[in-house]
Amino acid sequence: MDKSGAGPAQPISTLLEEKRRFPPPGGFSHQANIHDPAVYERARQDPDSFWEGFARELIWHRPWHQVLQWDPPHAQWFLGGHTNLSHNCLDRHLPHRADKPALLWEGEPGDSRSLTYGELHQEVCRFANLLTDLGVGKGDRVSLYMPLIPEAVIAMLACARIGAVHNVVFSGFSPEALQERINNAGSRILVTVDGAYRRGQLLELKEATDKVLADCPSVEKVVVVRRAGKGAPMTPGRDLWWDEGVAGVSTQCPSTPLDSEDMLFILYTSGTTGKPKGVVHTTGGYMVGVYATTRWVLDMKEDDVYWCTADIGWITGHSYVVYGPLLCGATTVIYEGAPDYHARDRMWRIIEKYHVSVFYTAPTVVRAAISWGREWLHERDLSSLRLLGSVGEPINPEAWMWYWEKVGGGRCPIVDTWWQTETGMIMLTPLPGLTELKPGSATLPFPGVEAEVVDEQGQPLPHGQGGYLVVTRPWPAMLRTIYGNPKRYIQAYWNRFPGIYFTGDSARKDEDGYIWVLGRADDVLNIAGHRLSTMEVESALVAHPAVAEAAAIGRSHPIKGEVLVCFVTVKVGTDGPVNLEAPLKDYISDKISPIARPDQIVFTAELPKTQSGKIMRRLLRDIAEGRAVGDVSTLSDPSTILTLQEKYKGAA
Ligand code: WTA
Repeated sequence: MDKSGAGPAQPISTLLEEKRRFPPPGGFSHQANIHDPAVYERARQDPDSFWEGFARELIWHRPWHQVLQWDPPHAQWFLGGHTNLSHNCLDRHLPHRADKPALLWEGEPGDSRSLTYGELHQEVCRFANLLTDLGVGKGDRVSLYMPLIPEAVIAMLACARIGAVHNVVFSGFSPEALQERINNAGSRILVTVDGAYRRGQLLELKEATDKVLADCPSVEKVVVVRRAGKGAPMTPGRDLWWDEGVAGVSTQCPSTPLDSEDMLFILYTSGTTGKPKGVVHTTGGYMVGVYATTRWVLDMKEDDVYWCTADIGWITGHSYVVYGPLLCGATTVIYEGAPDYHARDRMWRIIEKYHVSVFYTAPTVVRAAISWGREWLHERDLSSLRLLGSVGEPINPEAWMWYWEKVGGGRCPIVDTWWQTETGMIMLTPLPGLTELKPGSATLPFPGVEAEVVDEQGQPLPHGQGGYLVVTRPWPAMLRTIYGNPKRYIQAYWNRFPGIYFTGDSARKDEDGYIWVLGRADDVLNIAGHRLSTMEVESALVAHPAVAEAAAIGRSHPIKGEVLVCFVTVKVGTDGPVNLEAPLKDYISDKISPIARPDQIVFTAELPKTQSGKIMRRLLRDIAEGRAVGDVSTLSDPSTILTLQEKYKGAA
């Protein structure tokens, strides 16, 4: 997303108010990794020592001499320190936890694999040695185009071990998207698979990459994992099978001590306009930020079985599927496939089967589960759960309540965590043993993080008024630059308010200082001169018993300026659209305000979403304006657009 777009010229009106409050459930605080409210003040007074405290719990080959150097907008953390993330995720645990499961993997067809810390360490060493044999050294880029299988995690940790820079490209992206990212990063190696399973179908990833590899001049070698066992075309001299490559290779590979500011990975994030940006993260600060937040927000303990449903193609998969839980010595569950395959109870079955204690997912997944109906949960035993998390979008209060009651059984705190690819770590969040929860609010900045809601001039807004969400002090896991484009780093994040990080999101603070993220600043609606957040209208719609998902956008109108158009997906088994249009319009005007009465409601089976589940409102705006739709390369299912264009014409 580009964060430089125009935003609210006037504050955003707030029309919905959420009154429900949930203190930490009985017994939770007592066992939580953090239950002392004084941490906030302590971190505010001396943020450097606060972060240093976490850094000291990890292994450094050479200590740092300075915690932070801040030459806006360039930060360096733990200067002079040498460390290795793979070492901290693996070797650090070997004396006590070599035989404990580090990774529990379930394939979509139902196959499974478990790797202990000892086994994972060996596999990582073998692959790191293979990479070295292939000529990969410190700073070289390695692209991964793989489904969520153990080898993907092994490859990430192997890169980190030798100082190579991983560049994970989501396996659902097209070969052209892969090509663009490989070329931008200048990757020497590509790691992929013969086939990946998704919703029962086999995606032939190696064959797909062959279509573009001729146009990826930097790629010297392609390592192919036999996931599907179906074989793949192999180019002699360039392509090799993973299993053949690591056969007979030593399982010893001492980790390379890296400078704290050595590059760890590049991860591309798409902009609403322009080319994807290669967000650069470095070693020491990222490690400390991710470790701190996994310990305190996800309350991670050594005996937790933790499942985060994100793919490693996203930042959540980097920070909280791989690095965070392994830094904490926990067991991390990974699942290859779709949440509704073979049936709509797959997620609940996985939780039951592995006795998952901490579960972290996205609102889009929760809303999908709601629309499938609660009968899918009835026979599943979810009593192992103790903590739930949400990330990726604002979670609508009704979805929150369902998650709380039906999944958490009213005993699990929900941590609604706001952060970004760029922030690397969770930034706004409850601390589950401390914070009173309000459904729909990501609550407060993590200790040591400082965030504000400001107006156009960068001045803090009074409580209740919506404006821009900014971060006012550097944090350890912050992005360092945009790969190959330092100007864009400045232009996208630092130009609007000098020295202050511009998130591109809009938000408001309430009377308790809780932050409510309202969505992307460039998604804000302007109806009859009132600036409304898409989040509020959508939340209100989702609270209607018949509605599963909704997207609200503004369409230009010759007289009124802008009118509200809502795209709505109804729940399975509810009455057809015909009966719902008028009641839904009344409902919104009643729940929010007559000014928010939708001009039009379009019923649809699918909403256009990114591969990570975010609704692409700009495409809906294009459809509603009747113009050609913009870039759809990150859309999960491009056919949705055609269907919607047809629908829209029919409804207009
Ligand atoms: C949105 C995902 C509200 C927000 C980790 C942000 C959220 C963008 C939340 C980053 C949340 C993420 N509440 N909005 N809890 N979490 N967002 O880079 O708009 O894929 O700017 O990182 O997702 O998305 P990204």
